[in-house]
Amino acid sequence: MTTTPAATPTIADLRPAIENAGQGHVLSFVDELSAGELEAFQAQLSSIDWAELPGVIDRYRGTSASEAAGSLEPPVVSCPSGTPGDVAVDADEARAAGLGLIRSGSVAALTVAGGQGTRLGFDGPKGTLPIGPASGRTLFEVFADQLAAASAWAGQPNPWLLMTSPQNQQQTQRYFEGRNWLGLDREQIRFFTQGVMPSFCPQTGRLLLADKGVLATNPDGHGGVVRALISSGELDWLERQGVEHLSYFQVDNPLVPPIDPVFLGAHAGAGGAPSSGQFSSKMVAKADASEKVGVFARRNGRTSVVEYSDLPTDIAEAVDDHGRLLFEAGSIAIHAASVAFLRSIDEAGESALPFHRAFKKVPHVDLESGECVEPTEPNAVKLERFVFDAIPVADQPMVMRVAREREFAPTKNPTGVDSVESAKQLQHDRAAAWLAAHGHACPEGCTLELSGQAAWADVAGIDHTPQATPKAGESAVL
Ligand code: UTP
Repeated sequence: MTTTPAATPTIADLRPAIENAGQGHVLSFVDELSAGELEAFQAQLSSIDWAELPGVIDRYRGTSASEAAGSLEPPVVSCPSGTPGDVAVDADEARAAGLGLIRSGSVAALTVAGGQGTRLGFDGPKGTLPIGPASGRTLFEVFADQLAAASAWAGQPNPWLLMTSPQNQQQTQRYFEGRNWLGLDREQIRFFTQGVMPSFCPQTGRLLLADKGVLATNPDGHGGVVRALISSGELDWLERQGVEHLSYFQVDNPLVPPIDPVFLGAHAGAGGAPSSGQFSSKMVAKADASEKVGVFARRNGRTSVVEYSDLPTDIAEAVDDHGRLLFEAGSIAIHAASVAFLRSIDEAGESALPFHRAFKKVPHVDLESGECVEPTEPNAVKLERFVFDAIPVADQPMVMRVAREREFAPTKNPTGVDSVESAKQLQHDRAAAWLAAHGHACPEGCTLELSGQAAWADVAGIDHTPQATPKAGESAVL
């Protein structure tokens, strides 16, 4: 939906296209704008594809209806740790292949960090949230330390791509600059900005103004990453560097291994994994039938993620002969994707990555009075793309089982479920288990955390001695 013009057109240049799209009302207040406001508005308006917009609005107007579940079957799950019923993957072979890819510079890490983080309510980009239970490191620092350890091992800096949104791009980049790139090579870190979608009224299809010279917009979802990688030129850059695979993760999971050799090797088909190397995903067994995560399923024969709100309760609760949930494969938003596959799905456009709509309360300017209206009920459609819609488009997408306690600490809320509190506790628990596996008990009352080196060594299968042996009541980074 967004394009990058060479020189910003004026309102007079833009008016015909905007009026043809039936959205002339967004220009109601242009005569009242200052020169600076007008310039910013022109830039925003010229980033919209006005020819495409009416079709998109038509397709996503009307009342919300959950997508029909279709015919659902459990997915094929691959597993390097021998869970009965799964396709066995040889972990050593997969790890060796993954380490080979990392050492040869064929892998880049990719973090999607363009979300608005409304539930968390943190003032700043989510990645700058302190999350380390012992160190107070931020989410970005936790990832950076592991990537530094992986790069030191590989003898060359694996690139780290970060997708931001227009709302948090500057703040995110300034954060990295102000902290000396978190100890990484400046050249290793690459920012790119995702697109936005304008919000519109579901009844009239008219766009809303957030201010007299500002369209109401939202980032176009984590699925916007594919378009943004291409429009920013990052995919071209990756191809020039010889990077073949991206290790994708969200900014709000401090337990994720940013680069995981076993997963990447299996994704590339090593160890007997049933994978074409186009698009792979990690799963954990759902905590219970009502856990609010999407599940992997074969929908009409193709592996997909079904959102929890679209999974009928009787299907969510169905169990097999051993009492295990039939649809237990919860998605934790960790993926591996080949660069070539991402390029091919971008070419397929909306048929590969459709928009999903949400009805939201969007404050807007009343066209008659010019006053700002704070709606009490949802008044607007917001459109987003989801990255997991790429899965059914891929040939033989792999879904790999991993241990929840090692990889999944979602940080969505300040307290309670999936919160800063729970993510800190989960990091401590994982570090305590690691310490126990290295022959040391966790002393009473201490707070533990894995260093980047320990976390990398753990996934890479390399020996690592704890940096510290904690005493009772101490905080320690191992
Ligand atoms: P969430 O779905 O949790 O959304 O994003 P959010 O915006 O961070 O939080 P809420 O829903 O407003 O509370 C999951 C991941 O996808 C990224 C987020 O940054 C997070 O890493 N994301 C989401 C994007 O990069 N862009 C988007 O447009 C949406």
